[in-house]
Amino acid sequence: MYINYDLGVGIRAMVEADLNTVTQIERECFTDSWPKEAFAQGLVYNENHILYLHDTAQIIGYLIGMGIIDEFHIYNLAIRSPFQRMGFGSYLLSAIIEMHGNKYTRYLLEVRVGNFKAINFYRKFHFQNVYVRKNYYNNPTEDAQIMEMDINAQAG
Ligand SMILES: CC(C)(COP(=O)(O)OP(=O)(O)OC[C@H]1O[C@@H](n2cnc3c(N)ncnc32)[C@H](O)[C@@H]1OP(=O)(O)O)[C@@H](O)C(=O)NCCC(=O)NCCS
Repeated sequence: MYINYDLGVGIRAMVEADLNTVTQIERECFTDSWPKEAFAQGLVYNENHILYLHDTAQIIGYLIGMGIIDEFHIYNLAIRSPFQRMGFGSYLLSAIIEMHGNKYTRYLLEVRVGNFKAINFYRKFHFQNVYVRKNYYNNPTEDAQIMEMDINAQAG
């Protein structure tokens, strides 16, 4: 069970009843937000985690990804803006990595090249720049930085 009493948060699996709130946080955090249907499909195909406040059950973030053989792809990670820069994103990502144990050796993701706070965030987790995918994002059009983290580097 993933509850952090110091931070006052817990992690649980995303369920259908969460989709409206998750879609709303997504819209607050991204200009090219995923529609509700994408999250709904993801309930079937992806690994979906909710971060919630332990005392009120309020959802404050989520992480969505998919394991492919020995790699875990992070598709989406967001913390509701009033709760950003308080250590919640770090807790969520580190708890998921810990939860996976030795299942995956590499973590991969795409991030807008201009999303400096997210790039800073991932660097803290020893993610390295791998390559740039041109014009990957819409609204506005922007390149994606592909980042990768070797789990052994993270542990060190
Ligand atoms: C990126 C995101 C998930 C980080 O979560 P968070 O809970 O705010 O991050 P944390 O408080 O755990 O911060 C950890 C580190 O990330 C970096 N960071 C976080 N916010 C930052 C900011 N506004 N500016 C610069 N660096 C930042 C810092 O290195 C920070 O460590 P520090 O506070 O010791 O300096 C969150 O800002 C977010 O949801 N952003 C909008 C959605 C998004 O861009 N998601 C990523 C898409 S790939």
